[in-house]
Amino acid sequence: MNNDDLKVKITQLFENSNTADELEKARVEIFGKNGLLNSFKKEIVNIPPQERKDFGLKVNSITQTAENMFSEKKDIIEKKELEEKIKGEKIDYTMPGKYRRQGALHPLSSVLEEFIELFKVFGFSVAEGPEIEKDEYNFDMLNIPANHPARGMADTFHMNHGYVLRTHTSPVQVRTMLKSKPPIKIIAPGRVYRKDDLDATHTPVFHQIEGLYIDKNVTFADLKAIITGVFKNYYGQDTEVSFRPSYFPFTEPSAEVYVTCSGCGGSGENCSTCKGTGQIEILGCGMVHPNVLRKAGIDPEIYSGWAFGLGIERIALRTCGISDIRYFYENDYRFLRNFEGV
Ligand code: DAH
Repeated sequence: MNNDDLKVKITQLFENSNTADELEKARVEIFGKNGLLNSFKKEIVNIPPQERKDFGLKVNSITQTAENMFSEKKDIIEKKELEEKIKGEKIDYTMPGKYRRQGALHPLSSVLEEFIELFKVFGFSVAEGPEIEKDEYNFDMLNIPANHPARGMADTFHMNHGYVLRTHTSPVQVRTMLKSKPPIKIIAPGRVYRKDDLDATHTPVFHQIEGLYIDKNVTFADLKAIITGVFKNYYGQDTEVSFRPSYFPFTEPSAEVYVTCSGCGGSGENCSTCKGTGQIEILGCGMVHPNVLRKAGIDPEIYSGWAFGLGIERIALRTCGISDIRYFYENDYRFLRNFEGV
């Protein structure tokens, strides 16, 4: 076959290809191992040496032309086939959508969020502080002296240069008082760290919400009213909320707050949740110690205030009806999906 015949043949092959299959056949016939171009190239042996260069150039030019034709035709066919496919497709707008799981908040996050909302009702706004905290703020400014057991290596992650992983959210009280003047009405949710071994009721990382309310004439009665209100709103209006004397270095007087046990409804009978007492402890609180106010630059002769700290895990355990805190951290979807919407 001569040069011109080859060109004609190739052109015809492409022209006659009207589908992707036909084009593929043409491609093999032209470019394949035993295809037209390769057979043509083999004729070089019959060409006198001085004409071989010319011959080579011709081969290259035909090959190039053939490749261009191929890709042009390929575009045309693909476009045509796509158009036909679209024409043939009907969209059924009444089909139900594909179901996709939405995901949900982790149970600890949803309990935390819920308390934030409950305190907002009483006018509290959210404050935050760092998890790597000055031990001055975590301890000294909160009236926790250098020899206090809470500062021991046994329960605190000490960092270099006077920093600790905060052992409670209480240092946010200090930060807030240093930075703003009363009236102060904040809650501070966040992560805290203690050097505890992991077991069913302890983790080295857990969550607290701190609260602080300072103004003129703030009394223990305000504390009782707001804490009682929040927990009745959380657990139900017939929940009893009681205050018992306690001790914290940064409050005076101090109290522990108990609510009716949600496991037995207060009877205590055979109840492992409250160990038969009918009540469970939920938080620590008290009137902010005058030393704490003074150290943070607030005059205790003019202002008074109260504070509280509650542990989210403890509350969430009961809300979720589980007894092992480790479930919260294992990220096992089979566990977590039970609490979507808790
Ligand atoms: N910081 C305390 C703790 O981690 C909890 C606490 C008790 C915070 C009494 C307070 C408070 O603000 O007034 O155990």
